[in-house]
Amino acid sequence: MRSAEKLLEEHRQIERELDELEHAMNEDEDLNISHISHIFNQLHNLWNSHEEKEEEFFKQLSDNGANLPFSRFLFEHQELKGHKKVVHDAINSGSHLKIKVALDTDGRMLINKLRRHIEDEEELISNNYYEINVR
Ligand SMILES: [Fe+2]
Ligand SMILES: [Fe+2]
Repeated sequence: MRSAEKLLEEHRQIERELDELEHAMNEDEDLNISHISHIFNQLHNLWNSHEEKEEEFFKQLSDNGANLPFSRFLFEHQELKGHKKVVHDAINSGSHLKIKVALDTDGRMLINKLRRHIEDEEELISNNYYEINVR
């Protein structure tokens, strides 16, 4: 099982990519597409491996009797994946306009929702310290 520390460390990495992405989106009227696509790919890779391990982690925690909204987290993972796909497809289309629109809508929603999602998960991890560290 992934340790809680490892999950938290991955959250910090994901947050760094979100900050970078946000910065790159706000920097300039003319988007630097290759830079944005580079950041987005890093985010995508970090995320995919994180999400898989995290779902296992929460599943085990809930099997150990922790009180956690497991299905809500799974639902949010799907929701976030939807926003991520819109941005991913736009970047793959190569169209500057499509990329700009996708970043301004789904990209911003993704950044905000993912930050909140991480906060909620961490609150839950600290509220279940006993199940994680003592059992
Ligand atoms: Fe998550
Ligand atoms: Fe997470």
